[in-house]
Amino acid sequence: VVLVVDFGAQYAQLIARRVREARVYSEIVPSTMPVAEMLARNPRAIILSGGPSSVYAEGAPSLDRSLFEAGVPVFGMCYGFQIMATTLGGTVDDNGAREYGRTPLTVSKAGSTLFEGTPTEQSVWMSHGDACSAAPEGFTVTASTDVVPVAAFENDEKKLYGVQYHPEVMHSTYGQQVLEHFLYRGAGIEPTWTTTNVVEEQVALIREQVGDKRAICGLSGGVDSAVAAALVQKAIGSQLTCVYVDHGLMRKGETEQVEKDFVAATGAKLKVVDAEKRFLDALAGVSDPEQKRKIIGREFIRVFEQAQLEILQEDGPEVAFLVQGTLYPDVVESGGGTGTANIKSHHNVGGLPEDIEFQLVEPLRQLFKDEVRMVGQELGLPEEIVQRQPFPGPGLGIRIVGDVTKERLDLLREADAIAREELTAAGLDRDIWQCPVVLLADVRSVGVQGDGRTYGHPIVLRPVSSEDAMTADWSRLPYETLAKISTRITNEVADVNRVVLDVTSKPPGTIEWE
Ligand code: XMP
Repeated sequence: VVLVVDFGAQYAQLIARRVREARVYSEIVPSTMPVAEMLARNPRAIILSGGPSSVYAEGAPSLDRSLFEAGVPVFGMCYGFQIMATTLGGTVDDNGAREYGRTPLTVSKAGSTLFEGTPTEQSVWMSHGDACSAAPEGFTVTASTDVVPVAAFENDEKKLYGVQYHPEVMHSTYGQQVLEHFLYRGAGIEPTWTTTNVVEEQVALIREQVGDKRAICGLSGGVDSAVAAALVQKAIGSQLTCVYVDHGLMRKGETEQVEKDFVAATGAKLKVVDAEKRFLDALAGVSDPEQKRKIIGREFIRVFEQAQLEILQEDGPEVAFLVQGTLYPDVVESGGGTGTANIKSHHNVGGLPEDIEFQLVEPLRQLFKDEVRMVGQELGLPEEIVQRQPFPGPGLGIRIVGDVTKERLDLLREADAIAREELTAAGLDRDIWQCPVVLLADVRSVGVQGDGRTYGHPIVLRPVSSEDAMTADWSRLPYETLAKISTRITNEVADVNRVVLDVTSKPPGTIEWE
């Protein structure tokens, strides 16, 4: 493993991903972890991330010198570079030499491990106030900028390297190459980590964890739960039962994707609960968004628990495990750790113990989203599932402004299917994050169709581009594609006589309308 020491910037996850793109397995650890503990994990290399702007600031995270004396190759970036410099006796000062954003870097290549094969002049991404003016003893300076004399240093003998910039961001043109040079040449690591290893390793681990007991997995139609289920299915076969709650709020064809395609690809045992009527009854007359979300969440848990109980009552070994598609970013954001948690399932159906305690099986805990997709591919899941864009748990229930009825859902499903079809046909699926299609059921406007006046509902298209859904921009889709979607929706979907485009970024608008 390569450890990425997180100094509190948002860059650590990106660095860990870049290391994995270089086919080397990496994990993030907090900078507060004692060095002895880091070393006890036998890392092949350690990377120090960026962080707060000044190593001299009050309360700035520090690092024990012993990290650099353990013989483990270390690569410092930005703050990590400065902390390396000061700890090892170099000079970092606040001389007003600030650099932010794209900056030209001059590389002196002779004998450089990091920069060999890259151009003498290259563009890098800087973000710093202090600057290093003298490298520690024994280090060679291998790059500089107009304002920073020491923008990179290397010590091949001790296997210690550092750069002032952020090689992990894509604006640093040769960043990935420099990182790979550190990993392969500096640290001597072979690029062998692949998602194939992940599948094999996880299958073995799951078998060991579950033994001859049984497990349950809820499928939502999304990528994460599908891949988690497929992995567990590969490991324990018929000891796994998947549960899919059909709440009637899915898009066109999505329930079939789970019922047919997922089962065909994995051979998993699937219990489908048709709960459409129950959800629609509970939602009848409700138009408040929060209210809708609460009702859908509550009903979902009830239906899922009822299904769990039925599985518990079937003949067979004890049902002791619940499979969840937790991903690495969730693990990191909730404080890390490799342990497995227990969760309790409370239910309100008579005849069985008050709480059922499950152990969690979380085979995707070490993976990023793009890696989950690769694992899904490897497991033979259909493209439509593996490449699926995000879709909210409450489904189309929160894409109808107004109260939710079967007729309105059917109408929205048609409009949504047309939009998706045309976006796919135009090859735009990878360019957008997602494109909610919203029915303004409480709004009517006048139109003319054929020879007659119409008084129908508008459909809103909300295509957005985003990195992580925290912020988003509206996608500048080609007019031809928008025109085609508009024409088809107004022609093919009864009661819709207008299509409008949402041109709001997030913030101030959220991606979904409710
Ligand atoms: P907003 O509307 O908050 O959405 O900008 C951000 C992202 O989250 C998705 N979303 C949800 N996903 N359950 C989910 O699983 C939900 O209740 C939910 N609400 C929003 C939304 O589609 C977008 O990708």
